[in-house]
Amino acid sequence: MSILVTGGAGYIGSILVEELIKKERNVVVLDNLCKGHRMAIHPKAEFIKGDIADDELLDYLLSKHRIDAVIHFAAQSLVGESVENPQKYYHDNVIKSIRLLDSMIRNSVKCIIFSSTAAIYGDPINVPILETDPTHPINPYGKTKLLIESVMEDYDKAFGLKYVSLRYFNAAGTSENYGEDHYPETHLIPIVLEVVQGKRKCVTVFGDDYPTEDGTCIRDYIHVIDLAIAHILALEYLKHEMNSNIFNLGNGNGHSVKEVVDIARKVTGHKIPVTIGPRRPGDPARLVASSEKIKKVLNWEPRYPELQKIIESAYKWKQRCPNGYEN
Ligand code: UFG
Repeated sequence: MSILVTGGAGYIGSILVEELIKKERNVVVLDNLCKGHRMAIHPKAEFIKGDIADDELLDYLLSKHRIDAVIHFAAQSLVGESVENPQKYYHDNVIKSIRLLDSMIRNSVKCIIFSSTAAIYGDPINVPILETDPTHPINPYGKTKLLIESVMEDYDKAFGLKYVSLRYFNAAGTSENYGEDHYPETHLIPIVLEVVQGKRKCVTVFGDDYPTEDGTCIRDYIHVIDLAIAHILALEYLKHEMNSNIFNLGNGNGHSVKEVVDIARKVTGHKIPVTIGPRRPGDPARLVASSEKIKKVLNWEPRYPELQKIIESAYKWKQRCPNGYEN
């Protein structure tokens, strides 16, 4: 089975590629390296530098490599940025994803695993959130991912495209070899660790007046290896069931921003100073997954559900690669 991984040089993509290689799959990575890192691509994967909107390249790749399935990570994924620059999100996440889907249809590649997000739920009516709950995204990032879910649903009906959409909650942690290296960094756990490294003076908490126990936002942090393994189970599911489906992917436990900082203090022994700043536009107060469906249907079970273990892995990687992939 040959698999095309778009965005395979990025944070989650690189760790999924590592897991696929462990399972001896043929992997082709397509990445334009606008955010990803060449060093993050497993040496046993074939790497093609290019863009998912390059129809000619896509048609060539899908046919020449006899691709059976696509795992589609390549996207813009920052909630705050999507509010400030929605054009970038509609262009890269919607227009380019449709180009990829169209190329798949032209080349009779009928299976795709799609990186969706908890951001499609907006301010949820129930916690933990079920896949059947209403989707009312409150930021352009969530809207773009929901749009592609609708496109895939219609392409399934019209062209027999089979998809699994995985709605990620907050991916965190690292594998031993591959980690999180964004520029600029906006995610909470790496920012907290940059304070430990002395690269920042303090963590700014974006709002402490949310309707939560300590007033800070609650998120469901999931270990990136658990996330990667869910993709492999989803691939097997598509191969055997040929049935489209949608799954949440989280741990079912919420942690506030203040709790994340407290656990990081415990893991690192650093006092991690904090200041309280204004709310960040587009942030819902509480996002916690029900992952019962993926546990039941795909037999997925998280190996690293504890936030402490997740932060420990991220800290270990930061110690090993203090400047990310730069060195
Ligand atoms: N936060 C701070 N200070 C910081 C950085 C973050 O207080 O310096 C807060 C945020 O406001 C939020 C929480 O920490 O409440 C987590 O923020 P992240 O930026 O780490 O992650 P997000 O929840 O914004 O977004 C992530 C992914 C999205 C995905 C979402 C789903 O980046 O792609 O999880 O829950 F949609």
